[in-house]
Amino acid sequence: MAISDYPFIEAWRQVLTLSRLEAGQTVTILTSASTHPQTLSCATIAAQSMGAIVNRLDLPPVNGEKALSRDALAYLGTTPLTGNHAAIAALKASDLVLDLMTLLFSPEQHEILQTGTKILLAVEPPEVLMRMVPNQQDKTRVTTAAARIQAAREMRVRSAAGTDLRCPLGEFPAISEYGFVDEPGRWDHWPSGFALTWPNEGGASGRIVIDRGDILLPQKCYVDDPIALTVENGYAVRIEGGLSADLLSDYMASFDDPEAYAISHIGWGLQPRARWSTLGLYDREATIGMDARAFEGNFLFSLGPNNEAGGSRTTACHIDIPLRRCTVSLDGRDMVVDGKVLD
Ligand SMILES: [Fe+2]
Repeated sequence: MAISDYPFIEAWRQVLTLSRLEAGQTVTILTSASTHPQTLSCATIAAQSMGAIVNRLDLPPVNGEKALSRDALAYLGTTPLTGNHAAIAALKASDLVLDLMTLLFSPEQHEILQTGTKILLAVEPPEVLMRMVPNQQDKTRVTTAAARIQAAREMRVRSAAGTDLRCPLGEFPAISEYGFVDEPGRWDHWPSGFALTWPNEGGASGRIVIDRGDILLPQKCYVDDPIALTVENGYAVRIEGGLSADLLSDYMASFDDPEAYAISHIGWGLQPRARWSTLGLYDREATIGMDARAFEGNFLFSLGPNNEAGGSRTTACHIDIPLRRCTVSLDGRDMVVDGKVLD
């Protein structure tokens, strides 16, 4: 359902206040062909109302002809910033970048963050953003979970459907995504609400069963029949099952890249205002599926790169898979039991 400008502007003001925007700071709003016009106008008004100097930087899209999907997270390659020194300079000179175009997984983004510029991604439809306006409680919950991940040496994930995965930890940092950017050089995504890390290079092993009702992204579908992944030395070496497994295998094979099969980020959802069931209500091109990634108690794992964590592996393929009803433990201590978060 459509929302009115006024509450949306107030929501942006809340997010910008949580992000410690101050009068006189420079905000650059990054846009592209798929930027939602209401999000752009309300973000602009909110930032101006707080005394910020507001720019808009519109960059033409890239990679559309290579991706098999219109989802901006489906194909990770070059970005509109690749080799674009003028745009990079403008973003580095900004205090805060509002990314309404999806700039992810790029060395340029790292370079910009390292100068202290904050980046907040916000590309879900206005009503989804409004439903999941972040707050301090979200941050507390997510950072508490991330601290537990940071201190752990192993994440183990089990389910009645047959998942039993072991991931040694320690090589990569724990990341908190809670929906606002309150520290210099911080990147975050509104809406979100989850804690994650990456398994040690080559270390993940076991079996993952993607059960009926679990979700594939960017396919944005509920799996109809179980898919079994055999994981050895950090990679999914077999994908078995029925039609859902065939569809996943065919999609992944199109990238012709062994790195596509690596276990990427692992963690769990902590956002009570995100719902497992909303994906079925939306046209596939109307959302990137943040409800599916963030709903409380899901075990979210990914197949693809680890370069955004500081690893060396890159690949254009990126698949996020939220699983329901898993038990996630850190060093033998349960964090999530059958999809229910133990705080
Ligand atoms: Fe991902």
